[in-house]
Amino acid sequence: MDSIKIALLGLGNVGRGVWKILHGHRDMIREYVGVPIEIKKVLVRDIHKKRDIDVPFHILTTKFDDILFDEDIHIIVELMGGLNPAYQYIRKAIEKGKHVVTANKAVIASYGKELIQLANQRNVLLRFEGSVGGGIPIIAALTKSLAANEIETVVGIINGTTNYILTQMTRYEMDFNTALKLAQEKGYAEADPTSDVEGEDAAFKLSILAFIAFGVQVPPQDIPREGITRISEKEIQYAAQLGYTIKLLAVAKKHDGKLDLHVHPTLVPITHPLAAVNDEFNALFIKGDAIGELMMYGKGAGSLPTGSAVVGDIMDVSCAMMSGFREPYAYRNVREDLYINGEGEGEYYVRLEVVDQPGVLGKISTVLGNYGVSIASVVQRGRGERVVPLVLITHRVERKKLDLALEEIKKFDVVEEVASILRVESHSS
Ligand code: NAP
Ligand code: HSE
Repeated sequence: MDSIKIALLGLGNVGRGVWKILHGHRDMIREYVGVPIEIKKVLVRDIHKKRDIDVPFHILTTKFDDILFDEDIHIIVELMGGLNPAYQYIRKAIEKGKHVVTANKAVIASYGKELIQLANQRNVLLRFEGSVGGGIPIIAALTKSLAANEIETVVGIINGTTNYILTQMTRYEMDFNTALKLAQEKGYAEADPTSDVEGEDAAFKLSILAFIAFGVQVPPQDIPREGITRISEKEIQYAAQLGYTIKLLAVAKKHDGKLDLHVHPTLVPITHPLAAVNDEFNALFIKGDAIGELMMYGKGAGSLPTGSAVVGDIMDVSCAMMSGFREPYAYRNVREDLYINGEGEGEYYVRLEVVDQPGVLGKISTVLGNYGVSIASVVQRGRGERVVPLVLITHRVERKKLDLALEEIKKFDVVEEVASILRVESHSS
């Protein structure tokens, strides 16, 4: 074989990053793989669209079949996004005996196991490093370097858009919409940013991580999640005054033989390593029984960082083709016995808006005590106004008990509203 021919499905933010890396590092890649990697065709929606790279017009197509039935094309690189037609194209490519690389978390979270099985049957490779953590090599780490560990915890900041937004809101007191617009301009956000800001994108990635790290298959729609749209500048300030920063955390933790899996905006102590992860950066904090604690940090979104993961996968598949070695990644056996907890226990931050008069805290803490909710700290902000914020941090408690207590507390005349309930990540993770 004197070259490896590939096709790109999509030439958007990530596709252009892949194009630039493959061209910019052409010689280095040829040396590594042994032969050049050539982009033979590129599928787009609009072949006349102006792009910031020079793409020969004749390689652009709007017909997937031009690629599927081109026997010269060995690897199909799916970078279109969305479930369909991306899923159908990936399936057809594998059935046709082509290797596939994708950065599509929606497809891998929903159909990953099925596609891995199909790829194994067809003796082709399926790689999806770019689907979680952008440029961070987390899939390779969990399937190869950390394979000898029983994984206990994976807690991560795995959505670049929301981390970028929260960082801008914290650092510059910027409002949510302005920060979102900036994230979109920088190419971090999904085509529809609702998926980012409502925590769906992080749930897709957590579903993939649960499968890779624990062998647990949970459809992304079953993962309890909450996005960041209700986080105000005010909440961020109160959290900061208490020594916390707010991050959208994706959590997979084993507790008493159960796997707690969820995505929530969370107060992270400023001393915690994840608190220092800002802008579009992602990080994954992992605990394994042999390795202990480990943290991986890097750019979780963007054209070149994600392009780095995708091109790494293309090179990996190319090397396997050149050596004739087709061993698939080792995936963990599917575990049906790990109960999915989701809305499990946790520490909570609660902001109540209360009338500023003596005895209010006593009434509230009595009700909390009646439901077994223990208070770790309490702060009352503001003075001289009729209604002031009362902020509580609880010890570990079942969410159900906290909700029952707050239902009762809401009924007091002195309580204007339960303004916010957020999870708190403990120092020990
Ligand atoms: P994007 O900028 O919206 O680009 C999508 C590309 O796919 C465009 O070139 C578009 O063609 C093409 N396309 C979309 N639907 C198509 C269809 N039905 N037929 C033919 N072409 C189609 O998306 P992106 O940000 O590059 O993301 C691509 C994938 O990478 C997604 O799965 C995303 O979740 C994942 N990802 C993105 C990032 C990131 O930072 N952006 C990071 C990690 C993973 P036109 O150009 O003609 O419109
Ligand atoms: N929209 C995603 C994010 C892209 O912001 O993290 C990377 O998957």
